[in-house]
Amino acid sequence: MKRQPIETYVEQMTLAEKIGQLLQLAVPFFEGAKTEGEITGPMEGLGVSEETVRNTGSVLGLSGAQEAINVQQAHLRKNRLGIPLLIMADIIHGYKTIFPVPLAIGCSWDLKLAERSAEIAAREAAVSGVHVTFAPMADLVRDPRWGRVMEATGEDPFLNGEFARAFVRGFQGKDLQNDTSRVAACVKHFAAYGAAEGGRDYNTVDLSERQLREYYLPAYKAALDEGCEMVMASFNTVDGIPSTGNKRLLRRLLREEWGFGGVIISDWGAVKELIPHGAAADEKEAALRSIEAGIDIEMMTTCYMKHLAELAENGVIEEKLIDEAVLRILQLKQKLGLFDNPYRGADPAREAEIVFCGEHRAVSRELAAKSCVLLKNEGVLPLRRDQSIALIGPFAQSGDILGPWSWHGSTEAAVRLHDGIAAKIGTGRIAVAEGCGIEEASPRQLAAALRAAEGADVIVLALGESSEMSGEAGCRGDIRLPQAQLALIERLAELGKPMAAVLFNGRPLDLHGVADRADAVLEAWFPGSEGGHAIADLLFGDVQPAGRLTMSFPYAAGQIPVYYNSFNTGRPKDAPDAQVRYVSQYLDMPNEPLYPFGYGLSYTAFAYGEPELSSPEMTPDRPLTIKVKVTNTGAVAAEETVQLYVRDLAGDVVRPVKELKDFRKILLQPGEAREVAFALTEPQLRYHHADLTFASDAGDFLVYVGPNSRDAAGLRFSLR
Ligand code: NOJ
Repeated sequence: MKRQPIETYVEQMTLAEKIGQLLQLAVPFFEGAKTEGEITGPMEGLGVSEETVRNTGSVLGLSGAQEAINVQQAHLRKNRLGIPLLIMADIIHGYKTIFPVPLAIGCSWDLKLAERSAEIAAREAAVSGVHVTFAPMADLVRDPRWGRVMEATGEDPFLNGEFARAFVRGFQGKDLQNDTSRVAACVKHFAAYGAAEGGRDYNTVDLSERQLREYYLPAYKAALDEGCEMVMASFNTVDGIPSTGNKRLLRRLLREEWGFGGVIISDWGAVKELIPHGAAADEKEAALRSIEAGIDIEMMTTCYMKHLAELAENGVIEEKLIDEAVLRILQLKQKLGLFDNPYRGADPAREAEIVFCGEHRAVSRELAAKSCVLLKNEGVLPLRRDQSIALIGPFAQSGDILGPWSWHGSTEAAVRLHDGIAAKIGTGRIAVAEGCGIEEASPRQLAAALRAAEGADVIVLALGESSEMSGEAGCRGDIRLPQAQLALIERLAELGKPMAAVLFNGRPLDLHGVADRADAVLEAWFPGSEGGHAIADLLFGDVQPAGRLTMSFPYAAGQIPVYYNSFNTGRPKDAPDAQVRYVSQYLDMPNEPLYPFGYGLSYTAFAYGEPELSSPEMTPDRPLTIKVKVTNTGAVAAEETVQLYVRDLAGDVVRPVKELKDFRKILLQPGEAREVAFALTEPQLRYHHADLTFASDAGDFLVYVGPNSRDAAGLRFSLR
């Protein structure tokens, strides 16, 4: 049967039916739905009638193959023109096979594996009936107080862009229409959600246009260049106007300047939130501003449903605006093949077969091991298999290691640290004790922990934040571990035994009281379904730690924001002629973070030779080559991430002290040396000038190659 062209649907639709397409409701509203679905915002008082639900264009949070089929069937029975529902869900770092949180994935610097994780997430979600995922999040983050840093890949615009692309490739594949094991991606939160003042969620963002374009926008753009189908607007203001009602941001920049023709969706309730923001007097004005700005789908409020018809009928907006939004939504449905097969990939039998299968879990284990970052190691790790271990801390046997945004993941099925270690050495030589709760101390638990520790050769401390302590609305003003855990580690340190801390958390922490007391610190983030195995692989040296931080660990919260690609200032502290007092510094703490961007240890050591430049001069048609010899001087084969940074010494506007331009992951056998060569071209030196033109400056530069953003050696060259 030949399908009618999508435009003819629009012609046949009543205004109410069109407006219905612009509404997204959460799953509890739909007939055939059993689960309560994902609730990530207020639900009250929407006032939707049965007729509204019948016309609704998309559903949020629905999954499970049979349920998706039931809901779609019921919907098609009722919807006059038989327009299928678009099923969207937050599949952020896995569906049931949960991968490490995105910030951890960032620390793997492994784009191939990141893509594979998204591909698996898509496979599991698609077979469970999902059509679109609200991912990737491409927000650049510099403030670890913000709970949602765990959803980002870090503080670098270039690396974030590379990861955003990898995730989009993994989710969408090459042919969404025919490859029903993929889902459409929706990049979010446009724009600059990560720059919320004070690291407080939903708070004001106010950036210069240059900051926005130079640092915050590139990763969203990268996702779109990779073909990402949808964009979600952010909750925050951008230059005084909430993104949801921000015509300059959505219509001028995203649609006109970047040519984005796909669907833009609001975040949960964000259209109506124009009112408390103070950008709309009432729901009618909120609807008006949002549709004019370019929001096609209103998520979980009903300003469009209540007011768009009236606005169109009174000529305040042209009905064309509504038609265009509807058309974009129908085009996406068509692209996903829903008009031909409204059930798409949903398949209960296959769902039972592939969701959380061994193959997927193996990838999760591999990625989790690659995402952990060894921050400190003074002779404790790797553990020996003949040592007796006191495994202590609230995360010793906890399944709360999936992290936020893992709706379908099972904490019961997650491999706990104790199970991972026991799988290596059996249970006989492990004494396990909680020591304290995540936030509560108890003398009884402490006493048991001290007893366990006394009899052991080595203490492995499993500490961290509960998953509730980060994620959406999971902001903290004090980013140290909770006091109960700090007290535990203090008491254990008094025993003077070798002690390795494994940290489970969703943000860079202030590690006072941990990094100074433990002999080794392994940052495991929220490692996902296979966490315990992955960490045990690292603890025993069966896998070599290779993660590198993509977000700085502050020395203390007072430094925030602290990020590697900052400006030098006019009075840099480390200048050869720096004064004692009148320099840019804190009196009570260093300027530098405790652990910088790009940093991470290994069980081996890598020696970097003197980097060599092909020429001291670059021209637009003569790129440079930078070579460096890297040698594995240790006793085990391991992966190193060789990083290339650039500094523009005098620009039209000031430039960061270092900017990541490239990196290479190499595997070196013990004693092996490899020459790593990078090409550096003029376009890589371009940036947004004061007048917002994107160009390079002739003049002098430094290029750095090294193991992290702090310890890289610099060479001078000039661009002619
Ligand atoms: C709110 C969050 O900000 C967004 O990231 C998410 O996709 C939506 N809720 C839908 O759950």
